[in-house]
Amino acid sequence: MKIALLGYGKMGQEIEKIALSRGHEIVLKIDINNQHENTAENLKKADVAIDFSIPSSAYPNIMKCFEADTPVVCGTTGWLEKYDEVTSYCQTHRKTLFYASNYSVGVNLFFALNKKLAQLMNSQTDYEVSMEEIHHIHKLDAPSGTAITLAEAIVENLDRKNQWELDRATKDDSLVISAVRQGEVPGTHSVTYDSAVDYLEIKHVAKSRKGFALGAVIAAEFSAGKTGFFSMNDVLNL
Ligand SMILES: NC(=O)c1ccc[n+]([C@@H]2O[C@H](COP(=O)([O-])OP(=O)(O)OC[C@H]3O[C@@H](n4cnc5c(N)ncnc54)[C@H](O)[C@@H]3O)[C@@H](O)[C@H]2O)c1
Repeated sequence: MKIALLGYGKMGQEIEKIALSRGHEIVLKIDINNQHENTAENLKKADVAIDFSIPSSAYPNIMKCFEADTPVVCGTTGWLEKYDEVTSYCQTHRKTLFYASNYSVGVNLFFALNKKLAQLMNSQTDYEVSMEEIHHIHKLDAPSGTAITLAEAIVENLDRKNQWELDRATKDDSLVISAVRQGEVPGTHSVTYDSAVDYLEIKHVAKSRKGFALGAVIAAEFSAGKTGFFSMNDVLNL
């Protein structure tokens, strides 16, 4: 498969290694210094593009892939204000987009566990829920896209929480997400239900970026030649 990498930072480089080891070819690498090469004409040479760039470039990069009719796998977070517009454009114009706030298999199992736990906790009103995410100090967005996905599932399934807020609650029915920036941590997420007598915690700890990169390449293999909007649920059958 011919792959275009949009963003050649920590994730782009990790994805390149895994893609090459799985027999794929990298035909285009776009980063901040060669924006002039980021054209629909160049993108057309790839079977699929993988975007791990920065929040402000995710939307233009996705739209350029749509223009080129090249399926795009997006891992960039922090652009969700454009999410509805992009997904509806994708469906109505028969383009191909794969988006996951987190591509690791473990995190996607964690998402399923988090949803189930919120459903169980709905009737256990003595437990107060909170969340924490820890990432490296270079991360541009907070809370993380993964934390937002976890928080949305809790808000959806726990009647006593109606929205999430970052770092402190201004309303009683808010779920608080604490975002910690520390060293080179690749990504840790925990959800805690605390009562007067005990607490229950679920936690996912990424040991490196490899799990995200492998998931993104698997998503690219899945997306090539397809039309529509896809997520990790389509790949993992969760
Ligand atoms: N979905 C997931 O599983 C997952 C996992 C890890 C990271 N991420 C997200 O992926 C993104 C990238 O993470 P990273 O750790 O590789 O960051 P990084 O800072 O190491 O790399 C981002 C790269 O994008 C480049 N860039 C800037 N503007 C660009 C543009 N217009 N077009 C193309 N490239 C451009 C930067 O120069 C940099 O090299 C972040 O948004 C991060 O939150 C998602």
